[in-house]
Amino acid sequence: MAEIVIVPDASSAGALVAGMILELIDARPDAVLGLATGSTPLAVYRALAEGARGLDVSRVRGFALDEYVGLPEGHPESYRSVIEREVVTPVGFDPRRIRVPNGAHETIRTAGAEYEDAIRAAGGIDLQLLGIGTDGHLGFNEPGSSLASLTRVKTLTEQTRRDNSRFFDSIDDVPLHCITQGVGTILRARHLVLLAFGEAKADALRAAVEGPVSASVPASAVQLHPHATVVIDEAAASKLDRAEYYRYAYENKPDWQGL
Ligand code: F6R
Repeated sequence: MAEIVIVPDASSAGALVAGMILELIDARPDAVLGLATGSTPLAVYRALAEGARGLDVSRVRGFALDEYVGLPEGHPESYRSVIEREVVTPVGFDPRRIRVPNGAHETIRTAGAEYEDAIRAAGGIDLQLLGIGTDGHLGFNEPGSSLASLTRVKTLTEQTRRDNSRFFDSIDDVPLHCITQGVGTILRARHLVLLAFGEAKADALRAAVEGPVSASVPASAVQLHPHATVVIDEAAASKLDRAEYYRYAYENKPDWQGL
């Protein structure tokens, strides 16, 4: 199963995960990162921007998890813009090495296969950051998504559009479609790091890590991965049956194991 690490708050999680990423970049300056958007990973990106100060991160490559379909180029809430604003610029990555799925209508039919080719050509993703939707989605793989799926267009649920309407003027402005790495794409990454903060995520998180593996809860696919780390705060952990065991295992973890 995934290793569950319960931390006091999002900023401790940010420091922990940014440390893992910096170690990876130190060992492999052209590491390939999988980048999530949304609110959850922001603490990681902030800590990464601080930790990367003075380091050469210009060779790092990155692939965003997903993108909305049909937003005009340069729209501030397109994930291309968000990744540039929250990650690429503050951390100092080379924007030419950071890819986001192409959500343009004109080329959408082939955009998924192209993205898969690009990830393959980069040698795969070393570390994939992930959040979780309140409906259990992973990337934008909504409940029911095949656990073997690859990058493709999906229809967002009402719940996801409602959750994400905070970034737009109204729910009507949230696109109906997205292009997302598939669950199968995500499972090919060498290390998964799933983050969740706040009580609103507690049910989805419990279903993902302690429930059955099922396409009905796409985030439960992390249970299939040989190297998955789940970093959560107390509120997100509040509904877990085995929280005490996870704490005990982490406290007694042999140093040599690393994260
Ligand atoms: C973002 C993504 C989504 C989010 C999830 C949680 O790239 O793929 O799965 O991680 O919707 O969103 P936040 O972090 O805003 O609660």
